[in-house]
Amino acid sequence: MSTKRALITGITGQDGSYLTEFLLAKGYEVHGLVRRASTFNRGRIEHLFKDIAKDAPNLQLHYGDLADSNSLIRVLAIAKPDEIYNLAAQSHVGVSFDMPEYTGDVTGIGTTRLLEALRTSGLPSRFYQASSSELYGKVITTPQNEDTPFYPRSPYGCAKAYAYYLTRNYRESYGMFAVNGILFNHESPRRGENFVTRKITLSIANILAGKQECLYLGNLEAKRDWGYAKEFVEGMWMMLQQPQPDDYVLATGKAVTVREFLELALECAGIPFEHNGSGKDETYRDARSGKVIVRVDARYERPAEVDYLVGDASKARKILGWQPKTPLAELVKIMVQADLAVAGVQR
Ligand code: NAP
Ligand code: GDD
Repeated sequence: MSTKRALITGITGQDGSYLTEFLLAKGYEVHGLVRRASTFNRGRIEHLFKDIAKDAPNLQLHYGDLADSNSLIRVLAIAKPDEIYNLAAQSHVGVSFDMPEYTGDVTGIGTTRLLEALRTSGLPSRFYQASSSELYGKVITTPQNEDTPFYPRSPYGCAKAYAYYLTRNYRESYGMFAVNGILFNHESPRRGENFVTRKITLSIANILAGKQECLYLGNLEAKRDWGYAKEFVEGMWMMLQQPQPDDYVLATGKAVTVREFLELALECAGIPFEHNGSGKDETYRDARSGKVIVRVDARYERPAEVDYLVGDASKARKILGWQPKTPLAELVKIMVQADLAVAGVQR
């Protein structure tokens, strides 16, 4: 059998890096779309190259952007992928309120550009769209599955809803093998530093290293279903190996608050804490030094919040054979330990 070829947009992101490792281990030739930046932004995939100046034999990067159709047409013509994973997005929900038009252009219309480039190329590539539990937003029913109605609560959620429906529309209109993975939050030591889990674990490590005084957070009561990103990328691949295209939820089925995640991370880092006050005056102190190490800051609250997401992945379990393996406490430990090492804290 000839080598399979995959194209990953968003290859430099958290999921893109794990998916690249996964596909390379399966013997794929992987092509990645990368944006030009003034700094060399390849930290998450650097280890996959022997010589960063050259592409690895089975890993090739191509400049392009979801905002630029011509670059997508060009990359498709070069890569001729059997599978396309559209992971690129302006993926920060909070930032999407500051940049609604840009978020719509990249996260929403960007998907149209890629699907249309694929359709007109005539390539038979299978297409994965990185859909999100943010589609459920102000949830109608709990837990959420593939049949739960959508109620997005941010420009990001609205852009992902557009991309979700467009993916289905290309499947139904043109018979393309195009699927949505509706993924609940998934984290790792490679998570972007301004998403709440990584912000917490990295800040705790920096506080212990004496590099930071205090961690400022927004809404501590929001509940999320947090899984391990490494396991979720396998689910993406499984969706593209099915005989028929379909949409699937990936989730752990368990949700905790941001506060619970924070307290788990403090415990894991060995910081005894005292909790005081409420609302904007709420604090966490290091019980040994009495120093305030966590405060609430309204700057991190959103104009509209998603209070509670928890997924039901029984369809993926039954049809794909996918299931999450790492419990939250273990994931927190993995992230805290990795960030203690990043911050140079000796244990
Ligand atoms: P991430 O770490 O923020 O990575 C986003 C990727 O998209 C980066 O490689 C980024 O490139 C790239 N990108 C951004 N704008 C682009 C543009 N205009 N053109 C080309 N590339 C662009 O996100 P992630 O956590 O890996 O998530 C992957 C996908 O799954 C995203 O679409 C996200 O919205 C979705 N999703 C994530 C989760 C989750 O919990 N992680 C859950 C559901 C859905 P740079 O490195 O150059 O910035
Ligand atoms: N980022 C951030 N920073 N969030 C905070 C903070 C803070 O300081 N304090 C509290 N939060 C709350 C947010 O208000 C939200 O309710 C929750 O923590 C999680 O926020 P994020 O980690 O930014 O993730 P998200 O759930 O909004 O979005 C992520 O998951 C989606 C899937 O549900 C992103 O990865 C999206 O791209 C993804 O689609």
